[in-house]
Amino acid sequence: MSEAVVETIELTKRFGGVTAVDRVNFRLGERELRCLIGPNGAGKSTFFKCLTGQYPLDHGSGRILIRGNDVGGLRPHHIVRMGVGIKTQVPSVMNGLTVMENLWLAARRTHGWDRCGSEVQRVVDEVGLGDIARRTVGELAHGQRQMVEIGIVLAQEPWLVLLDEPAAGITGAEVERLVNLIGQINKTASVIVVDHDMEFVRMLGADITVFYQGAVLTEGHVDDVLADARVREVYIGNRA
Ligand SMILES: Nc1ncnc2c1ncn2[C@@H]1O[C@H](COP(=O)(O)OP(=O)(O)OP(=O)(O)O)[C@@H](O)[C@H]1O
Ligand SMILES: [Mg+2]
Repeated sequence: MSEAVVETIELTKRFGGVTAVDRVNFRLGERELRCLIGPNGAGKSTFFKCLTGQYPLDHGSGRILIRGNDVGGLRPHHIVRMGVGIKTQVPSVMNGLTVMENLWLAARRTHGWDRCGSEVQRVVDEVGLGDIARRTVGELAHGQRQMVEIGIVLAQEPWLVLLDEPAAGITGAEVERLVNLIGQINKTASVIVVDHDMEFVRMLGADITVFYQGAVLTEGHVDDVLADARVREVYIGNRA
């Protein structure tokens, strides 16, 4: 078996009495695309934040290996510089700045001054932000902002991309554009996508890992997982 891009071993994260991530063993292969689904509060965002160092690991709470390196004790900026990019569930764009300014600041986190201009242009082209590049982010429509958020991640040239609910609040043709963009990103990077929108998840066509109460409920091919009675059951009362 080739080296995993991400491997977690018995990963656990507790907040007081709540076990948000519960002994998760997870493996993502090189250039793999994986969807992570599960009802509200299942631990998906917490899992992402453990991978990126936003939530430090407590002693004895498992291990996280990224391309074989134990990142358990590393700070978020170290993990970003390794090549791990995350679009969080909560927006991280700066509303008062233009799209290009936001992208430039993101590029600057991993590149020298001289490279930032060309990096920004590359992202504008890849994500298709040309028409809105000079607009202030605060005045954009929701779907456009989601694309800018993804652009910010790509400006750091990550080889592992984590997208937390990129399709939230977007519709129709925008969803299709997003699916295409994720396919494009996946040509050079491994990608994990968290989302609730089953239609979107189906369109991505990737293997799925289902989280429930912090643990992995099941894992497998999209068709098998979405047909699994246990998966349907945990979504009842949440989203069908
Ligand atoms: N910073 C925190 N402090 C305390 N509890 C937290 C914190 N972050 C998450 N939790 C709790 O951990 C559990 C998992 O939350 P998490 O946000 O990871 O779920 P999720 O699967 O991303 O849900 P959603 O689909 O609603 O985004 C929940 O019970 C939540 O209340
Ligand atoms: Mg979440």
